[in-house]
This record gives sequence, C-alpha cells and structure tokens, in this order.
Amino acid sequence: MRIVVPLQGIVQGRGGLILGSLIPCALFYFLQFYLKRNRSSPPPLSPSESSTDLPKAAGISRSSSQNILSNRGSIRPVPVSSRATTIVRSSDSNYYIGQKKVSENPYHSSCNPDGIIQLGLADNKLSLDLIEEWLVANLQKSLLGEKRGDLSISGLVSYETFDGLMDLKIAMAGFMGQVMQGSVSFNPSQIILTAGSTPAIEALGFCLGDPGDAFLVPSPYYPGFDRDMKLRTGIELIPVPCRSTDNFSLSISALERGYKQARKRGIKVRAVLFSNPSNPVGNLMDRKTLYDLLNFVSERNLHLISDEIYAGSIYGTEGFVSVAELLDAEDFDKSRVHIVYGLSKDLSLAGLRVGVIYSYNANVLAATSELTRFCEISTPTRRLLISMLSDTKFMNEYLKINRERLGKMFALFVEGLNQLGVECFKSSAGFYCWADMGKYLRSYSERGELELWESLLNSGKVNITPGSSCHCIEPGWFRCCFAALIESDIPVVMERIGEVLRSHKAG
Ligand SMILES: Cc1ncc(COP(=O)(O)O)c(C=O)c1O
Repeated sequence: MRIVVPLQGIVQGRGGLILGSLIPCALFYFLQFYLKRNRSSPPPLSPSESSTDLPKAAGISRSSSQNILSNRGSIRPVPVSSRATTIVRSSDSNYYIGQKKVSENPYHSSCNPDGIIQLGLADNKLSLDLIEEWLVANLQKSLLGEKRGDLSISGLVSYETFDGLMDLKIAMAGFMGQVMQGSVSFNPSQIILTAGSTPAIEALGFCLGDPGDAFLVPSPYYPGFDRDMKLRTGIELIPVPCRSTDNFSLSISALERGYKQARKRGIKVRAVLFSNPSNPVGNLMDRKTLYDLLNFVSERNLHLISDEIYAGSIYGTEGFVSVAELLDAEDFDKSRVHIVYGLSKDLSLAGLRVGVIYSYNANVLAATSELTRFCEISTPTRRLLISMLSDTKFMNEYLKINRERLGKMFALFVEGLNQLGVECFKSSAGFYCWADMGKYLRSYSERGELELWESLLNSGKVNITPGSSCHCIEPGWFRCCFAALIESDIPVVMERIGEVLRSHKAG
C-alpha cells in the first residue's frame, strides 16, 4: 500500500503509515521548541507588574494582552436587548432631537447669547419667584419641624408606603379641588401618587391594556404620550385627527371612525386617552363633548383617561370642566374613568416629580398602587408638599398670579408672531402657542414642515415642536412654549424666527 504523506514523500505499508505520521509530528514539535528558545526575551516586568498582578499573563507584556482583549471586543460586541435598541431608536424623534440640541448649547442672554432658545419644552418659569419665596420661609419647617425633634430624622430618611402618605393624599385632594375652583371635590382614597405624571400615564397603560391593544388619542397630541404609553407597555396609540376647520376640537364621528378602522384591522381598542386642556393646542373640552365622550366609551365598554395636568393653568375667559364634574352630576359607570394630574405644570414643580392617578376603579387603584414601587415620590418631597399644598392661602394667591402672568405672556408672544405674519390659535390654557406657519413652507407637506423646523433650529437657533411630532395631519403647525421665557427674550425670539421665515419665503 502506498500512502502519500506530506514532508516525507511516499512511504509503504502499515509501518509507513506510522512513520509517515510520527516523523512530521516530531519535526513540528522540534521546530516549535527551537523557535521558543531563540525568540527575543520579553521586557522585564516593572515593579508594579509583579507576578501577583499578572499571574496568567506571565511572559506576555501588558500592552500586548490588552491588544488581544480589545481586538476580541471589536470582533464581537456584547449584545444588549432588543428592548434597549427600541428605546434608543425612539429618542430619534424630532421632538427629542430638538431637546438634545438645546441641552448641548442652551441660550442665555448674557452667558451664551448665540445659544439655542428653548421653546420646545413645556416648562413654566413665570412664577418661580413665588415658589422661591415660599420655600425660603417654610422649607426647613416643613422638612424638620418648628424645633429640633419635632419631626424625627428616621421619618425623613426611612421607607414609607409606596403610593404616598394619607396626609399627602388629603393635601393633594384639597389642592386639586382648589385648582378646579371648587367645582369638584376629590376623595383622597382614590388617589395614587407617583414620581411625575409620566409614570402615572404608563401605570394606567399597564393596567388598562395588554401588549398589542390600542388606545385612541385625539390628535394633535402631547408628543410624550408615545413614549409614556407605548415604550414599555406594548400598547399602540391610534391618532384620531382633529382639524383646524373645527378649531381642533374632538369630533365623536372621527373617534367612531378610528374605532371601527382599528377593529377591522383586528386591533382591540381598550381606551380613549386625551389631555384637557389640550397640549399642544391649548383649547378646553366643553361639557357637551365630555358628555358625548363618556357615552362613547360606555357604549363600547372602553376606559377613559383624562390628563388634566394643565387644569390650573387657564388664562382665557372659558372655565375648565373636569371629567370628574360630569361624573358627580350624571349617572355614568365611573369605574372606567381615570384622571391624570401632577404638579409639574400648575405649580411649576417639574423637578420635584409629583404625579397623580385619580381613579374610580378599585382594581386599577390596587394594581397601580403596587406599581408605585418603581416610581415613588421621595420622603422629603412628600413632607415638603404636605406643608405647601395645605397652605391654601398661598396656593390661591399663586394660582391667581400665575394665571395672570401666563395670559400676559401668551398675549405678548402671539402679538410678536402676528407682527411676523404668523396666525396663532386662540388658546385658553397651557404654556404654548399653537402657530400656523403653513404659508412659509416650501412644500405643503410634512417634509416641508420639517425643512422649516430644521432651519429654525440650526440657522435661527430656536427650538420649537413641529406639528408632525404631535401627529397633526395639517402641515405647518408648530408648538412654541413661551412660559420659560422672560419678557425681554421675546424680541430676540421674534427676530430669529422672522429672519428664517423671510429667507424661506424668498427661497
Ligand atoms: C399633557 C402632559 N401630560 C403629562 C406630562 C408629563 O408631566 P410630568 O413632568 O409630571 O411627568 C406633560 C409634560 O409636558 C404633559 O404636557
């Protein structure tokens, strides 16, 4: 038998096979041994690289072992979950892109006059002086008591019930009644407190629908709803368009259409979600629309979530009607109704993170109460709020002055835009002006709208929210938050917006 063996040529028989395998192997090992002995010796270890520091890397310099590790890393990046990837992608929306740009280069009249002016975030700084005054007078007392030992330190820093102390719920119920100007009284035992309204909205999403179910949302709507309601719960939001020709008010027939279309696609609709006063339009839902809405959800066995976070930030002549008011007066099944409230807007306390779920449904209250373990209000914040919200004289004063200041700033801002030829919606509440810049679009489309938005952001250095981020179906509408400005900023804002609009018209 002839076998062809590498390195050795042709050998014969069984002996040939053994020799033909052994000889090349032996040669290979001798070669390895020779090379190892004659290789240049490694550099001596520095004192810190003692044998105990690098037990497994003896004979390999630190830099070369690091190279090996980093090469490995670049070949196979360690994976993160698909959930994490989805979350990162969701921040690509223009709404968040604008916010990010501002945070990298924020405008300040003296420290950074070339920075970007923020009109894209619903923040209210018009009445912070009043809050500051109250805090200076009361902070220490509300956290630690009148004199040492009144409130124990362990009560300040230890665990407490997750969904809020009853004392705070009582104070919050009283404050909410004050905001609604006595038209409703709220029951503290129907309150669940959360760290901001954002987790309150999400907790309701978890409790009212399963992944793949949908909620109908009159649009244009608050861009944060997409994140708050969809991101972790798997709920879908279906925009129900409201039109400028109807003053952006909700039509029940549009809601009916949205419902039927979803059902045709095999989607289970579980709830209707809306903000009243509306973010971004700043209009109020009238009693008749609320009544029709309650009928609509009752007939189809749906839930109703009314986000009333701007209830105290009304500056128009129209009065605010809470859905709670109708429930008190009419014979509806209350267990399908849930109200979201919070202190970020009406009290300008966005940084304290305080939100409210007010529900008439015992199961929802029990479930959201459990979920508050993930979004508790800190104990010092609770203490502070018990004092602040119970100070009804201060609260009355604050709400009144804040409304006046919002109204004044809205009028100044709208006047500025009108002088540039931009018409605005006649809003009655909130921190924003809903402006129609449709005639400045180079193409009357979402693309045209985003082109103008980009010019305003990058050339004009003004961040406003494009209507498309709020699911507005008519191109050219923009939301401009004015409540974080001071009066002297308005001419600067108008000059910047005016310049961009003129160049768009000319171009
Ligand atoms: C309608 C609406 N709901 C909820 C929120 C979230 O508020 P919070 O800061 O309490 O999470 C906002 C904030 O802009 C809002 O406009």
